[in-house]
Amino acid sequence: MNEYDSDYLAQSLINYGLSAVDNPNNADIILINTCTVRAKPQQKALSMLGRISAIKKRRPELIFCIAGCLAQEMGVRLFERFPDLDLIMGPRDIGKFYEILDSLITGRKKVIITDTGSAPPDPVRCSGFFNGRISGNISIMVGCDNFCSYCIVPYVRGREISRFPDAILSEARNMISAGIKEITLLGQNVNSYFWNKETNFPSLLHKMGTLDGLYRVRFTTSHPKDMSDELIKCFGEKESILCPHIHLPFQAGSNRVLEKMRRGYTREKYMDLVYRLREVEPDIAITSDVMVGFPGESSSDFELTLDLIKKVQFDSLFSFKYSDRDGTLASKMDNKVDESEKVLRLGILQDLQKQITLGKNRSLEGKKMSVLVEGISRKGGYPNFSGRTASNKVVNFSCDSNMIGHLVNVEIKEGMNNSLKGEIIL
Ligand code: 5AD
Ligand code: SF4
Repeated sequence: MNEYDSDYLAQSLINYGLSAVDNPNNADIILINTCTVRAKPQQKALSMLGRISAIKKRRPELIFCIAGCLAQEMGVRLFERFPDLDLIMGPRDIGKFYEILDSLITGRKKVIITDTGSAPPDPVRCSGFFNGRISGNISIMVGCDNFCSYCIVPYVRGREISRFPDAILSEARNMISAGIKEITLLGQNVNSYFWNKETNFPSLLHKMGTLDGLYRVRFTTSHPKDMSDELIKCFGEKESILCPHIHLPFQAGSNRVLEKMRRGYTREKYMDLVYRLREVEPDIAITSDVMVGFPGESSSDFELTLDLIKKVQFDSLFSFKYSDRDGTLASKMDNKVDESEKVLRLGILQDLQKQITLGKNRSLEGKKMSVLVEGISRKGGYPNFSGRTASNKVVNFSCDSNMIGHLVNVEIKEGMNNSLKGEIIL
C-alpha cells in the first residue's frame, strides 16, 4: 500500500514539473513516505528524517516533507523533533498533495494535514510513469475497520472505504496501455471490498478478468474471517487470470492468543480455509504473516504457532516480533514477553520456515512453469533474467531482452532458499 501511495506522490511531483535526482543533496524537495505498523519501520523512518534534517540545515531552501502513517500518528509532535519540516501529511490526504505542493512552493508556509476521513483519490495521470514496468498495483479500498488488538492501521488509515469499480477498471486500462501485464489489487482487507449488491470482491475479480492485454491478477491482503466460499471458488475457475497465490495472514497458532488479538477466527477455521483453498486449486501457493511474543504468549502458545506452520506448509512467511503500538489494546495488556525471548522464538520460527520454503522450492525441480519475464536479474551475472511464476516465486533464467513482458515456459532446474533457477523452453 505504501508503494502505491509513493507512486501516487511521485506522479504528483512529476506532474507539477519536477524531476527526480539521484542524490538527496541535490534535491529541491524531499518527501519521506513512512510506515508505523511496527516499531522497526518507525525507527527507520525517524533515522531517515534525521539524515534529511541535516541536509535541510545546510540548505534551508530545501522543502522537507513527511507523508504516511508515521506522519498521521505523530502529527504536530513531529515539529518538536524536526522543526524544519515543511509538510506533515497523513496517508488519507495524498489526493491533496498536488495543491499542497503548490502552496509549499509558492507560499513557503508550513502545512500539516492529517484528516483520516478523506475519500480515496482518483489516480493521477502521469504519462510515461509506468514505462518499463511489468507489474503494477491498484488500491481498491482504503482504511480498515477490524481493530485487531495489536494494530495501529485503523487509527492511522481511518475507516474502510471501497473505491468505485469503474474508477478501478479505468486505472487498470491505463496501466495496461502503459505496458503493465500483471496487476495486484490492494487493500488492508480486500475480501471485504463492497460497492453494491452487484459488485463485491469476487465480481470485481471477474471484471478484471475481462480486460484485454492483462495476463495476471493478484490481490493482497485477505483476512481469514472474511474469506467467502465465492472467493475460494474463484481460484478454481479454469481460464481465469487470477494467480494461484494467496497471502492469508494467520498471526498466531493458539486460539487463546488469536482471541486476545481479536482476529475473529480459530486455528481450526484457518486450517479449514487452507484445506478448502487447496481443494479447489491444489497448486495454490499460500503465504502468510505471523508474529511472536504477543503479550501473554506462553511457550505452549508458541508451540501451537510452530505446529500450525508445520501442518499448513506455507510457501513463505513474513514473521515479526510483536511491538507495542501506542493507543492499541494490546499495548495496555499485561504479561509482555521479554525481548530476548521474542528474538529466540523468531529465530526458531524462521529456521523452521526456511526448511519448509526450501523443500517446497526443491519439489518444483523438473517442473515446467509459466513465467512472466520482468527484467534483468537483481543479482546480475548469469542467469541474467528474472521473472515470477503465477504462484509468485522468483525464477532466474537466461533469455533475450525482447522477452521482457512476455509469458514464457521455464523448466525449473534448482530450487533454492529464496528463488528458483530455470531454463527457458523454446
Ligand atoms: N507488532 C508486530 N507485528 C505487527 N503487525 C501488525 N501490527 C504489529 C505489531 N504491533 C504485523 C502483522 C501484519 C503485518 C503487516 O505486520 O503480522 O499482518
Ligand atoms: Fe491491522 Fe487487523 Fe486491519 Fe490488518 S485487519 S490492517 S492487522 S487491524
